[in-house]
Amino acid sequence: MSESRVALITGGGSGIGAAVARQLLHAGHRVAVTGRGEERLRGFAEELGRPGELLTFVGDTAVYDDVRAAVDATVKAFGRLDTVVANAGFATHDTVAEGDPAGWTDMVLTNVLGPALLIRASIDALKETRGRIVLVGSVAGFVHGPGNIYGATKWAVTGLAENTRRQVTEWGVGVTLVAPGRVETPFWDSYGSLPPGHLLTAEQIADSVVWALGQPEGVDVNTVVVRPVGQPV
Ligand SMILES: NC(=O)c1ccc[n+]([C@@H]2O[C@H](COP(=O)([O-])OP(=O)(O)OC[C@H]3O[C@@H](n4cnc5c(N)ncnc54)[C@H](OP(=O)(O)O)[C@@H]3O)[C@@H](O)[C@H]2O)c1
Repeated sequence: MSESRVALITGGGSGIGAAVARQLLHAGHRVAVTGRGEERLRGFAEELGRPGELLTFVGDTAVYDDVRAAVDATVKAFGRLDTVVANAGFATHDTVAEGDPAGWTDMVLTNVLGPALLIRASIDALKETRGRIVLVGSVAGFVHGPGNIYGATKWAVTGLAENTRRQVTEWGVGVTLVAPGRVETPFWDSYGSLPPGHLLTAEQIADSVVWALGQPEGVDVNTVVVRPVGQPV
């Protein structure tokens, strides 16, 4: 098996996923990132300038063929897969009682089905490396918010992480749920403004992801909830 470790990050062309990709590349991993926007991925790859260690795949995390193709191409190119980060996700920032249902299908499929498809597509490769799965959930998957339909998708991610862990731990595969509070990323573009108060940076959340991935063999960090100081709920 070729030596340096390999990570695949969904939605890795911006925000938290891009910060994780940067840090892992810096730590000597080889990295593949996915996203729907070809231009965004191309810009990210050009900015990093590491063509030998960074692959990009245009694809929808809610479409199994796309996810499967990215996993297979990563294993083919790099010879192994040690880590998957189910990071792709977004919010419609509306409520179940007053929002626009037209946006919910994509959000639910991206946020809930997407991580499940990534786990399904990568588990055989992860068994071989006794690798790790990271799911990027949210504080909104631990606390209730009035009408928060996005939050409901993240409660599902919280559940998926632990249900997955209970199955794959027997195969030597670790599962970590990283649940951020408010982070300054393009996530808030569709909201129209940043939320009030102090926000974390994407790099600060990436620190937690990389810390969990760097645990010694046999140690599985399961849940990391990270809020900025000043975020009460
Ligand atoms: N920012 C926060 O305050 C915050 C707080 C808690 C949790 N989170 C979670 O953190 C994760 C990363 O978000 P972020 O804050 O870093 O925002 P972001 O910069 O908008 O990152 C999301 C990434 O996912 C990609 N993406 C979205 N839908 C996709 C799909 N169906 N298939 C493939 N890629 C898709 C986007 O690229 P394309 O649009 O080009 O596909 C984008 O690169 C999300 O799961 C989000 O829910 C964020």
